[in-house]
Amino acid sequence: MNIMKFHNDEDFVQTGASLVASLLQSNPKAVLGLATGSSPIGVYERLVQMYRGGLVSFAKASSYNLDEYVGLPADHPESYRSFMNKHLFSHIDIDLSRTHVPNGSAKDLEAECLAYDQMLENNGPVDLQILGIGSNGHIGFNEPDAGLNSGTHVVDLLQATREANARFFPSIDDVPRQAITMGVGSILKAKQILLLVRGAEKAEAIRNAVQGPITTQCPASLLQTHPNVVVLLDEGAGQWLK
Ligand code: F6R
Repeated sequence: MNIMKFHNDEDFVQTGASLVASLLQSNPKAVLGLATGSSPIGVYERLVQMYRGGLVSFAKASSYNLDEYVGLPADHPESYRSFMNKHLFSHIDIDLSRTHVPNGSAKDLEAECLAYDQMLENNGPVDLQILGIGSNGHIGFNEPDAGLNSGTHVVDLLQATREANARFFPSIDDVPRQAITMGVGSILKAKQILLLVRGAEKAEAIRNAVQGPITTQCPASLLQTHPNVVVLLDEGAGQWLK
């Protein structure tokens, strides 16, 4: 793993965005794996700036998002599709028909999961997968457990995860109870992984993930088995790293 700690936000987002931009410069048809949440927002903002400055184009790229809430229509303000439109897709030249987010409103969720994996199989592998990490070590919505699903699947969200996300909803009762997520197996198929970690509340999780045992009780620790992972830490998340 290539672990980098940054003392200022500017360098953090520039390094993350440059990795994405240089991939697109060398391979305009790159397949991007995208995450939502607070961690990648700065990188997305920088990519928008780079696009506006003519430094990068997404015109031939395609994207696959990690996850989506079950039961929120795509146009719900808190759906992950809306998040991606708001923070990235609406501001760049990506062809929306080549952007993919699992459909959490699908009538047949199992069929939706299978179809998502099939698309990844047909159009992948993902060239660069952006990830965040939960305070409990989750990646996507793969929560700590005795075993982990490999492919895209439906998960029951842990109370802790619902509480962490409640700030975006009127009340905890409005936070969906399930989500569709790519599995750890699908995530690990990406050629390169960019894990963005911000905040002291993530310090223990990321330390366990990169230095602790490889265990399904810390899903992000499985990233240790991947040959090409770049981890960007801010000061808080990297407080344990000299
Ligand atoms: C989001 C996702 C989640 C988040 C994680 C960290 O698509 O898959 O695993 O990356 O919960 O969230 P933030 O960045 O909000 O701390």
